[in-house]
Amino acid sequence: MHLNALLALTAATTALAKPSPQGSSTSSGSVPQVSVKGNAFYAGDKRFYVRGVAYQPGGSSNIADPIADVESCRRDVKKFEELGINTIRVYTVDSTANHDECMKLLADAGIYLALDVNSPKYSLNRADPEPSYNDVYLQSVFAAIDAFANYDNTLLFFSANEVINDNDTTKAAPWVKAVTRDMRQYIGSRGYRAIPVGYSAADVDENRFEMAEYMNCGTDDERSDFFAFNDYSWCPPSTFDESGWKAKVEQYSKYNIPLFLSEFGCNKKERTFEEVTALYSDKMTSVYSGGLVYEYSEEGSKYGLVQINGDEVSNLDDFDILRTALEGASPPDGDAGASTGGEASKCPAKSSSWEVGDDKLPAIPEPAMEYMEKGAGPGPGLSGDGSQNAGTGSSGTATPGSGKVTATATAGGGAGASSTAAAARSVQVPGWKGDMGMFMTCAVVLVSTGVGMSLL
Ligand SMILES: *[C@@H]1O[C@H](CO)[C@@H](O)[C@H](O)[C@H]1NC(C)=O
Repeated sequence: MHLNALLALTAATTALAKPSPQGSSTSSGSVPQVSVKGNAFYAGDKRFYVRGVAYQPGGSSNIADPIADVESCRRDVKKFEELGINTIRVYTVDSTANHDECMKLLADAGIYLALDVNSPKYSLNRADPEPSYNDVYLQSVFAAIDAFANYDNTLLFFSANEVINDNDTTKAAPWVKAVTRDMRQYIGSRGYRAIPVGYSAADVDENRFEMAEYMNCGTDDERSDFFAFNDYSWCPPSTFDESGWKAKVEQYSKYNIPLFLSEFGCNKKERTFEEVTALYSDKMTSVYSGGLVYEYSEEGSKYGLVQINGDEVSNLDDFDILRTALEGASPPDGDAGASTGGEASKCPAKSSSWEVGDDKLPAIPEPAMEYMEKGAGPGPGLSGDGSQNAGTGSSGTATPGSGKVTATATAGGGAGASSTAAAARSVQVPGWKGDMGMFMTCAVVLVSTGVGMSLL
């Protein structure tokens, strides 16, 4: 469960991107695209619940892209259908590989992809986040977006996974939020559909709710499209009440973006997957949109649903237990209590378990700004040198609201910055096809300042 997502990059191989369509992926076509409305996901106009599993055969010790290999994909898609799921979560892909066939096999089976865009070598460093937020890193993230944005069954992107795992690492939260902002801005600036972007939080009681609030506070460009957390707290035999899940439903009842479990499935005792029944029942559907069981293949820690041996896959006991649980769990009809409005969260106050001093975010590193206009170009694949100490970092604090989708910049300066106007330039970028279906072209004038770029 502690895989970091993978993605790759190489510094400045800026192959000129085609203006449109971007990326190399093609549409799979046989499932409706999923979008966010209020605190829920919708496939077309039907409420969508994540019913899925984590899928990373080989685990973190043997990093391989599981959806680049067509034969194993074909083999496992059959299992996914047998299990009755509609989503897989993949933590690591090779963004230079071709995924057309596997994505089509998945789509034909009605299965969506929830994708982590990071990898161990191309990810934020929780111990020293500032230098790890750089243009080399963002290039790899954006290249992963390019590789998957044109598939209809790309459900969502995780901007990061479990970066914060105790009190002290809450200090890394501004960088997680900045990456989320940059990904949303990239998706919009490149003219892709509004594929949801959000964070997958670790199962840490001390600050999970603060992180949820933090990722959903501030200006619209700074907020996430959804929030997800890993939750192993319901250990069968237990109940909705005793497990603490009831209390969480109450705690998040006003949360106004979709919420789901990015991993669940306690294995301390025998797994019954009794929690699946609650997750898709009216006890939870007004606040939660389902979840992902950890995990498909047995990797030595007793979470597996199947055992993979060479080309052979055999079901373990938990496979049938989960299949039966999913079969019996059908959410209420209609919107099932989802809300369409509600207010953005308030940013959490600093405390001993939330060590973020203010609501400021770093501006996007300047060399990464051009990706918004030109595209990221090819990523590093699984063989890149890594990004944590590479490239150029952020040069200042972002002006809240400056990371909006049609802008190329965010930038810094704040109140005291003087615009020297040395390098004013005008860029035309395709606009965001947002909720209202608008397609705009918007001229943005950027003026360089001492610390970055100011959006006029
Ligand atoms: C984190 O902070 C909380 C609140 O101050 C405290 O109760 C808890 O012990 C801290 N956890 C660790 C691991 O230090």
